[in-house]
Amino acid sequence: MTLVNAQCRLAARPVGLPQSSDWSYVEEPAPEPGDGEFRVQVEHLSLDPAMRSWMNAGRSYVPAVEIGEVMRAAGIGRVIDSRHPDYAVGEHLYGVFGVQRYAVSDGSGVTRVDTTLAPPPVHLGVLGYSGLTAYFGLLDVGRPDPGQTVVVSGAAGSVGSIVGQIARIKGCRAVGIAGGPDKCRWLVDELGFDAAIDYKAGELRSELKAAAPDGVDVFFDNVGGDVLDQVLLRLARGARVVLSGAVSQYNATEGMRGPANYMRPRPQRVTTEGDPAGDQAPGTPDLDEGPDEMIDEEAIERFGRDLDEADLAARALAEGEDEGEDQAAEPPMPPIAGAPPIPAAPF
Ligand SMILES: NC(=O)c1ccc[n+]([C@@H]2O[C@H](COP(=O)([O-])OP(=O)(O)OC[C@H]3O[C@@H](n4cnc5c(N)ncnc54)[C@H](OP(=O)(O)O)[C@@H]3O)[C@@H](O)[C@H]2O)c1
Repeated sequence: MTLVNAQCRLAARPVGLPQSSDWSYVEEPAPEPGDGEFRVQVEHLSLDPAMRSWMNAGRSYVPAVEIGEVMRAAGIGRVIDSRHPDYAVGEHLYGVFGVQRYAVSDGSGVTRVDTTLAPPPVHLGVLGYSGLTAYFGLLDVGRPDPGQTVVVSGAAGSVGSIVGQIARIKGCRAVGIAGGPDKCRWLVDELGFDAAIDYKAGELRSELKAAAPDGVDVFFDNVGGDVLDQVLLRLARGARVVLSGAVSQYNATEGMRGPANYMRPRPQRVTTEGDPAGDQAPGTPDLDEGPDEMIDEEAIERFGRDLDEADLAARALAEGEDEGEDQAAEPPMPPIAGAPPIPAAPF
């Protein structure tokens, strides 16, 4: 029986916020594996803010997705046919399989997923790049000491929520910045953050002062823009700023806006450094030694995305206006038989 592959392809380069017309949905016969290849059924996708930058033309840290190409996305697939000696039918693999139901691979860039350690979607969250970014960004770049104050923006997101939990495990005071009261409540009540600030309430400056009265020792920034600008005013002497990302700027049509207050921390001997999670691929020895002991089932469930929910209109990837709802909106692809549903996220 010929399998039908459902694919989401890039139809146009988005200007600002992506629209559904930027995608085309195609059905065609699924590719067959040749010698030394295997075929996976993609069961889970990771919908990441970085995908927005891959849609733009021009130089980046990875090549742009070309018009007409299947949208690039990391995911977890189950091997359904194999002509490769090292990959057996039934194995779960992590790879950049794209937004499609079936993919063929020769194993390049693919990592085995240990489903005895945690269910597959967890390997896209706390055991995937989100976890790596949080773990190495906070500990290697942020270098927090017990008792210090760690502030994280995008705190209810995939990376930010892990950062705050690791900060708590390391004996720090964890303060999250997120949009809306529901997310803030979730951070404090469910994840154990010491405080959460709703930046959308418009009192970020005074709330930061209250939550970090002695200043911010580590700022893990996922969003850039106004939030970064405000936190720069509250950095403690010797603070470290971890530049993870700038979600608030990814849809900017006139270039990214830099922080106006960037000179204010200068007398404070602040260090600012990027957090290149790509330096640590899932499955490397460093990872294997690391975050698995820090898994919190409640926290990690939120990061899985059933492929049925993949909304490559991508508004949710960067818009952040998702209070009370899961980030995925209308499903563009038909349901995939056998793909287990992911528990609903608290928002
Ligand atoms: N360094 C690396 O290698 C690496 C690896 C992975 C990810 N990242 C970066 O880490 C960051 C977070 O990624 P993620 O996967 O955690 O994303 P995510 O789960 O999608 O969360 C991002 C959150 O950012 C917030 N946001 C959106 N627009 C905003 C705005 N204008 N102002 C303030 N907050 C806004 C939204 O939450 P609210 O509703 O709370 O605003 C959104 O949920 C991204 O910048 C990404 O590029 C870096």
